[in-house]
Amino acid sequence: MTRRIGLTTGGGDCPGLNAAIRAVVLRAAARGMEVLGIEDGLLGLLAGTGAGVRLLRPDDVEPILNRGGTILGTTNRGNPLAFPMADGSVVDRGDEIVARARELDLECIVMAGGDGTQSIGLELAARGLAVIGLPKTIDNDLSHTEATFGFATAVGVAVEALDRLRTTAESHERVMILEVMGRGAGWIALEAGIAGGAHVVLLPEIPYDPDVVADAIRRRRRAPRPFALVVVAEGAHPPGEAPPRHAWPGTHGSTALGGAGMRCAELLAQRVADCEIRVTVLGHTQRGGTPVPFDRLLATRLGTEAADAAYERDHGVLMAWVPPDVRRIPLDPTIRTPRLVDPASQVVRHAEALGICLGRIPPA
Ligand code: F6P
Repeated sequence: MTRRIGLTTGGGDCPGLNAAIRAVVLRAAARGMEVLGIEDGLLGLLAGTGAGVRLLRPDDVEPILNRGGTILGTTNRGNPLAFPMADGSVVDRGDEIVARARELDLECIVMAGGDGTQSIGLELAARGLAVIGLPKTIDNDLSHTEATFGFATAVGVAVEALDRLRTTAESHERVMILEVMGRGAGWIALEAGIAGGAHVVLLPEIPYDPDVVADAIRRRRRAPRPFALVVVAEGAHPPGEAPPRHAWPGTHGSTALGGAGMRCAELLAQRVADCEIRVTVLGHTQRGGTPVPFDRLLATRLGTEAADAAYERDHGVLMAWVPPDVRRIPLDPTIRTPRLVDPASQVVRHAEALGICLGRIPPA
């Protein structure tokens, strides 16, 4: 009988998921295994959800290397361990997942996802399901891996936005605020801010002092072309204030994060006279579209190694990017701890050494 593995993409989508799907399927086929794609996260294994499973053949996946999104669909509202039922109750359907995977003769399930998906995988593994993790998220906040696919593309989108904002900011001598994704981790803001030449970068990890930011803007206003570029992560906030939220429901917590850029604009307008401020919210443009070459390469290498791990029955592992190699790291509870920007790290010091204001007086 042909050996069979499952493959799912969970949580928020990101560029590179299809490249990873392609690599898993091509490599599995080369080793004589077939891959059953599970739709919409793990919903495809749960009865009554409308999602299902389908065989993925090499010909199906050959053309999807550069396509954004995920051909399997995904959800970040379908945690089988706390599954929201139509009547409003929340039910643990983890055992159903394990049983259905057995019925389908899946030796293991390769799960592409961030910390949420990997934590679900860990719990399902404890109940007897063999899992292999693939690290994806634009936030780049998964522990044990130097990079997750999706991140490089998101940074590229944010840098392009900064390049565009720069020219109009310069023409009008304005303060342009760009709000980027990053609820708890400020990697997109930090790397895009440095690469895009921002003057101020505000991260969730460093609560910002509005007076320090206002001083930085006033200093910029003495420059020959007195414009300023400010990058604000959606989770950035002053000390003692929670990050702003929309009024409508979100995936993470009771309401969706949003408004950090506007909040920063308000605080600056109260402090800096005669200053024209405009706010751009980049939102899901960071998650959509074509993956950049690095994300395609990373997703392809991680996916190839995941298929090899499946072939060798090396289960309970996360594929991690530890340059220059992909390593198999044991999947354990430390995966639940996000990888945040360390305010004392070299990259933060470099940013401040360049004169970028991070909303604090740089440590001596
Ligand atoms: O986790 C990735 C991420 O893009 C976050 O940066 C962002 O806060 C969140 O997803 C948005 O989720 P949703 O697509 O459910 O609004």
